[in-house]
Amino acid sequence: MSNQRSKLVVGNWKMHGRLAPNVALLQGVARGAQALPQDVRVGVCVPYPYFAQAQALLGGSRVAWGAQDVSAHEQGAYTGEVAAGMIADFEATYAIVGHSERRAYHGESPELVAAKTQRALAAGLTPIVCVGETLDERESGATECVVGAQLNAVLVVLSADEAARIVVAYEPVWAIGTGKSATSEQAQQVHAFLRARLAAKGAQVADVPLLYGGSVKPENAAELFRQNDIDGGLIGGAALKEGDFLAICAAAAAAADVAG
Ligand code: 13P
Repeated sequence: MSNQRSKLVVGNWKMHGRLAPNVALLQGVARGAQALPQDVRVGVCVPYPYFAQAQALLGGSRVAWGAQDVSAHEQGAYTGEVAAGMIADFEATYAIVGHSERRAYHGESPELVAAKTQRALAAGLTPIVCVGETLDERESGATECVVGAQLNAVLVVLSADEAARIVVAYEPVWAIGTGKSATSEQAQQVHAFLRARLAAKGAQVADVPLLYGGSVKPENAAELFRQNDIDGGLIGGAALKEGDFLAICAAAAAAADVAG
């Protein structure tokens, strides 16, 4: 299986990191990424307080940086929220929206996720829209229904040109942080479904990068990234270890190479 799309690997640090140890991790990833072929793009989504640090240490490197969430509001009296424009001030590229941890622990609705996606786009950021089913939903045969509805809530508020500027990440909730990744067949099946939904929005939306997330490790990355509709990964725990993260990036490079 192969396709001509380039690969993208993004680390989601979640609520990890401290100022001092971040230096070695960011510098190490920046250094390691220099060796990657041009058709592999790399990013890290760090906690807000480390934006200036990411900008200082990653600026001029192959590694882009971004946020793990963004406010649905442009500005105003929203204590604790961070606006897309503020994130863009730090030359960030990405903003994750609709991560399952935000949907589950912060009650984010599909409509809120859609509004956040619009805000990110309006500020010139690339939203990484996360979708995924729980174990109960998978076992009751509702996977496509759930992820289809999550994606659709975003697509309906976007023009085709806007939709062409998003990234979608399929992250089965049961695979996140559990060490139990989806098999490459399971992931490919959902990705193919999502690809068809994107293509139905317009020809320019068909090739939106589709990332897989959920217990991606150096050991399983190559097999996942070889699948026809898997364009890379959204990496949690393994993104906190320089060697593991770079090994996953190398697996993306190898998969891109096979495709090319
Ligand atoms: P893990 O890679 O730790 O399973 O996390 C995946 C994830 O939630 C990335 O957003």
